[in-house]
Amino acid sequence: MKDDEVEDVIDLEYEILGLSVFVNISTKPYHKKVFLAEVNGEIAGLSVAYWNDEFKIGSVAVKEEYRNQGIGRSLVKKCIEFARSIGFDSVWLEVAVNQARLVSYYKTMGFRIHDVIKHYYGIGKHAYSMVYRM
Ligand SMILES: CC(C)(COP(=O)(O)OP(=O)(O)OC[C@H]1O[C@@H](n2cnc3c(N)ncnc32)[C@H](O)[C@@H]1OP(=O)(O)O)[C@@H](O)C(=O)NCCC(=O)NCCS
Repeated sequence: MKDDEVEDVIDLEYEILGLSVFVNISTKPYHKKVFLAEVNGEIAGLSVAYWNDEFKIGSVAVKEEYRNQGIGRSLVKKCIEFARSIGFDSVWLEVAVNQARLVSYYKTMGFRIHDVIKHYYGIGKHAYSMVYRM
């Protein structure tokens, strides 16, 4: 990623997710990697992965005008392939339990619900921990 793209990544995360996983993990002891999907030189979407003992996908975000074209799926696949290439045999992510569509979406890519993490997003806001096994 080029230096001037860091700002674009943070802006896009805030615009679509209302927070930046990239910023949040920057102060923590993780390795991290950003995957970009570009269309005509413009960033159409991104995913942020980070790892130490476990490999996790922290965010996947695609600009509205580029959705439903397989970009999100290809970004998740890039994360999985990268995790495999550096020796991981599983990939983890969290999804809010009330995001049924997103849970199904990840299931279509081979992720399975592993556990419920209570209050993960705040009081009463639980998450599923989902895992993809290679
Ligand atoms: C989820 C998201 C990354 C999918 O990107 P995409 O490039 O449109 O996805 P693909 O083209 O690979 O696949 C389309 C599928 O995405 C899912 N999807 C589309 N919009 C969605 C939304 N707003 N919320 C949840 N899932 C959505 C659907 O399952 C859709 O399949 P369907 O047409 O059978 O319903 C994109 O909708 C997005 O950026 N949403 C907002 C941010 C978000 O929720 N990120 C995930 C958590 S970090």
